[in-house]
Amino acid sequence: MFNFTYYTPTKVVFGRDAEAQTGTLVRAQGCNKVLIHYGGGSVIRSGLLDRVKASLDQAGVTYTQLGGVVPNPRLSLVYQGIELVRREGVDFILAVGGGSVIDSAKAIAYGAVDEGDVWDLYDHTRQAVGCLPLGAVLTIAAAGSEMSNSSVITKDEGGVKRGYNSDLCRPKFAVMNPDLTTTLPPYQTASGCTDILMHTMERYFTPDGNMEITDSIAEGLLRTVMKNALILRDDPKNCDARAEVMWASSLSHNGLTGSSQGDWATHGLEHELGGMFDVTHGAGLAAVWGSWARYVYQDCLHRFVRFATHVMGVADSGSPEDIALRGIEAMEDFFRSIHMPTCLSELGITPTQEQLETMARMCSAAAGGAKGAAKVLREADMLSIYQMANH
Ligand code: NZQ
Ligand code: ZN
Repeated sequence: MFNFTYYTPTKVVFGRDAEAQTGTLVRAQGCNKVLIHYGGGSVIRSGLLDRVKASLDQAGVTYTQLGGVVPNPRLSLVYQGIELVRREGVDFILAVGGGSVIDSAKAIAYGAVDEGDVWDLYDHTRQAVGCLPLGAVLTIAAAGSEMSNSSVITKDEGGVKRGYNSDLCRPKFAVMNPDLTTTLPPYQTASGCTDILMHTMERYFTPDGNMEITDSIAEGLLRTVMKNALILRDDPKNCDARAEVMWASSLSHNGLTGSSQGDWATHGLEHELGGMFDVTHGAGLAAVWGSWARYVYQDCLHRFVRFATHVMGVADSGSPEDIALRGIEAMEDFFRSIHMPTCLSELGITPTQEQLETMARMCSAAAGGAKGAAKVLREADMLSIYQMANH
């Protein structure tokens, strides 16, 4: 048995044309003025932004808007958003986009009710004092921010990418129409699937494991996402596969697939890559996961063996080490099959030794010195993993 708190207050409205309900959902929050927040233009090109506005108009909700969120969302736009929210008397934030837009919306929502600098939260020098209510119309299955307690922001100067977790920022509702994700570039679909897998794997690779029910959910989710990622590689418009992956993105990061704290070292390592090189989050995870797994598997052997046999379909024969390694190889083969990188050069970067050392130092500092549960990693371990991945 595990002791845990499970809290998922987000109302999910899932399915075809779900965005038509946005106005009613916002109206039900009893708010007067909405900030519509969006990214670099995909929601304009697809017509989604206009449909969302029509839905708000129909519900008699007034709004202002702020676009321009980039992947690895920047603090500078968050500051602009906070100023706009205060100036316009906004009392609800509607994120229309992916994890980056939702995370930026969360940061604005924190900052709008806080006299201090919102970066302090991400710098972990202060806790949030409150948060404006927010909702999401999701356009990519990936980060799981639509139901998570997390927000990840990059400070423009120095490329420092940091996350802050608090239940205060969990969206009031998430509108999820899988059809909206059919316009994604294949690289984003595959990166999203990788991120979904990683959110469950981070919770899976812990020495104490999870409860049996939780492990079974996690393993089912991992198998389902891999199967549907392959379908989407060959048939990007397949709406059933889009639906499977979209629901998985939320379930993978709303606390359902883990009953303990989890490992999260791969995410920590990726956040430094994202901050320094502005890589796509899911692809960055794929590029370091294999090196992380080979570095830690012996310290968490029974979980890697279970993963190999229950998730990757590896035959239960040979030594536990052999089985575990074959499971890791099978996962890397899967990443390759969806055109995800398994090392830093395939990610398109070639960091210098000095850059690797800087990332290891920052990763360790961000974690307060040590990170991980499968194996507790310190700065020297982090550097070793970066070096293993740097080919
Ligand atoms: O900006 P637009 O033009 O909308 O283009 C986006 C962006 O370029 C595009 N896109 C999104 N939906 C689309 C679309 N293009 C065509 N059709 C659509 N339907 O895809 C690109 C990526 O979007 P982004 O929002 O960055 O993707 P994702 O959801 O993967 O979010 C990544 C961010 O989330 C953070 C990551 O670190 C990264 O900064 N994470 C947030 C988490 C959380 N809050 O719980 C957890 C994760 O572990 C992760 O760290
Ligand atoms: Zn992630």
